Amino acid sequence: MSFPKTEKIWCNGKFIPWDQATIHVLSHVVSYGSAVFEGVRCYETAQGPAIFRLREHMQRLRNSAHIYRMDIPYSLDALCQASLDLVRENKLSACYLRPIVLRGYGDAGVDPQNCPIDVYFACWEWGQYLGEEALRSGVDVCVSSWNRAAPNTLPQMAKAAANYMNSQLIRMEAKANGYSEGIALDVNGYISEGSGENIFVVLNGAIHTPPLANSALPGITRDSVLTLCREMGISVTEQMLPRETLYIADEVFFSGTAAEITPIRSIDRIKVGAGARGPITKRVQDAFFAITSGKVPDRHGWLSPIGVANGVAVR
Ligand SMILES: Cc1ncc(COP(=O)(O)O)c(C=O)c1O
Repeated sequence: MSFPKTEKIWCNGKFIPWDQATIHVLSHVVSYGSAVFEGVRCYETAQGPAIFRLREHMQRLRNSAHIYRMDIPYSLDALCQASLDLVRENKLSACYLRPIVLRGYGDAGVDPQNCPIDVYFACWEWGQYLGEEALRSGVDVCVSSWNRAAPNTLPQMAKAAANYMNSQLIRMEAKANGYSEGIALDVNGYISEGSGENIFVVLNGAIHTPPLANSALPGITRDSVLTLCREMGISVTEQMLPRETLYIADEVFFSGTAAEITPIRSIDRIKVGAGARGPITKRVQDAFFAITSGKVPDRHGWLSPIGVANGVAVR
């Protein structure tokens, strides 16, 4: 698949043509993985294009950078504005945004502090991450032979490029064995998350998800699912989950900006529940997509219309 190019990329405060958003091969990030990034979706809603949970994504970007002692020279408001401007500039209605903060060309050694910090925001049209059918029918996944990074190694609360070397191992192994995705355990064998998704398990009508201490990314979709479940009166807990919970669960689903809410129908070729999307997963999907499509009022303020400064409605 070739990249679905758009016209412009936002680079350090200016728009530049897509093809000019290039870096030197000796940029720090290339050898040492020193970048933090985000994945954000803009939805086509009944009221026009709107970015989902923009401020939370930009705050996580700033948090990821802060952990790695990277000073982003833009305020939270400026980063939100750059995202809105980018979508508008590219005349897109529904798209995926990829903000990246990286250590550029400077020193040769590991110490990054003499390398410039460059900020790029790109966007493109991107459909269903795990395939069109996945949202309806669910995906077949495996438990990965690769674990998530141990606590106090690579910080998993940072969405850092280097973490995705581990995600690549998980994803490639899953694909090589005929699965759509892999579920990683943490170093102690407890369920952590997918290579690019958080995970939820439904057991006896209640929903459980691993806490962040099990090396899971603080997913913004995860947070949205927790909120929606509580509103719907579905019991939801963040708790450590042994691997075997996956095999006895009634339903399992992934959450993520790219994967949205994707049902899992089998794990290691063992059917999950009836081997199809379950009723609670469907309820969560319906509640989630009702908001992202603008079909119900945005009661949480999760949507930032692209035509409005900072995504906050000016009254
Ligand atoms: C490793 C990992 N876990 C979880 C998620 C889900 O996070 P979010 O819902 O914020 O996209 C992602 C995607 O960003 C991810 O890459």
